[in-house]
Amino acid sequence: MKPDNFICVKDCWNSRFACVSVGLNLFTVCSARTSWCLSDSKMALPSISIHPEYLRTMTGALGGASQSLWHKVKGVMGLFGSGKCSSKATLEGKTALITGANAGIGYETAKDFLKRGARVIMACRNVQLAETAAGNLRSEIPGSDIRVVQLNLASLRSVKECAEDILKSEPKIHLLINNAGVMACPYAKTEDELEMQFQTNHLGHFLLTRILLPKVLESAPARIVNLSSAAHLGGKVNFEDLQSTRSYNSVLAYNQSKLCNVLFTLELQERLKDTGVVAYAVHPGVVATELGRHLPCGCSWAFKRVGWVIKTPVQGAQTTLYCALDEKLAEQNGLYFSDCSPGRTSGRARNKEDAKKLWEVSDDLVKNFI
Ligand SMILES: NC(=O)c1ccc[n+]([C@@H]2O[C@H](COP(=O)([O-])OP(=O)(O)OC[C@H]3O[C@@H](n4cnc5c(N)ncnc54)[C@H](OP(=O)(O)O)[C@@H]3O)[C@@H](O)[C@H]2O)c1
Repeated sequence: MKPDNFICVKDCWNSRFACVSVGLNLFTVCSARTSWCLSDSKMALPSISIHPEYLRTMTGALGGASQSLWHKVKGVMGLFGSGKCSSKATLEGKTALITGANAGIGYETAKDFLKRGARVIMACRNVQLAETAAGNLRSEIPGSDIRVVQLNLASLRSVKECAEDILKSEPKIHLLINNAGVMACPYAKTEDELEMQFQTNHLGHFLLTRILLPKVLESAPARIVNLSSAAHLGGKVNFEDLQSTRSYNSVLAYNQSKLCNVLFTLELQERLKDTGVVAYAVHPGVVATELGRHLPCGCSWAFKRVGWVIKTPVQGAQTTLYCALDEKLAEQNGLYFSDCSPGRTSGRARNKEDAKKLWEVSDDLVKNFI
């Protein structure tokens, strides 16, 4: 990471950014510090510096004419209430597969689906944790129909095995919720020699969806929900170095992976036209889950102090539920939703050429597993 990629906070403090509430400022600074602290760079950086792309994420997430500031604040904070999925849809006879359903937003999504009568497949990396979570759900919702399957998104072999097992054993998949994710982890390669966040957040879900798609199509009407983030606003898909081998910044790699989630959704919408299967991308808000586990302890400490300001996991699950269930959603013709309303995407997230290119590059990366 070169120093000229950075700009001082004071130089680019703009009016929108200055409007941010104390809680959001804290989150922003914490996250910016994370970007700095976790960077693999060996160069001395200014004590507080924010990458321009990152600053764009935060200002973009809060600015723009299409949504009121109030809506945006509610989109990330739970303190003043948040969007709520008001659909009364029942899911008797429907099957939902949720990745990363043992914790956080995925767990709350599973709980809601079960209350509506769905069969829920919890596709999780750690089967023991998933069985414990499933046990808790069964005691809270007697009669729950839950199946736990092993899925490690950081292993294309595991994704293939899981998806093929589901293809053979499940008659239908009506809801595919690509929820699991990691944020801002230190640089690591998967067993497939790919960058961890790119594979876990994007490519693993891409392969899972590719293999399950015939089953989802047979189950139409069906929906696919991809958990993205407002972090996509600061994302750029670096097609020249998708695996961040030349330089790695943990926050920018997260932003890239979350932009990939929206581009994947865009291309899915294109390819699924008139099939009865629809795909949506979601920003759940800033949610008090374990996602921040890789933040340096100072940031984790600060995050816990503002935990009461941000969304609870139940609030964080609402936009996923809205996209999975709302009966009138098709009329909105939307791509990306935040706080149970259409959200603002970056221009890069609406770039159809990039969406097509990402699909082709991803297809090539998983070609030995399809
Ligand atoms: N929380 C937020 O503020 C926020 C904001 C924007 C977007 N999001 C997005 O929301 C989604 C859910 O996040 P969360 O906040 O609920 O986080 P979380 O509580 O950390 O849950 C993440 C889930 O993903 C699973 N996971 C991680 N790596 C995996 C892998 N290699 N294979 C399979 N599963 C894996 C985790 O499994 P283990 O329990 O085994 O680790 C866990 O079940 C993520 O895609 C995230 O990017 C969250």
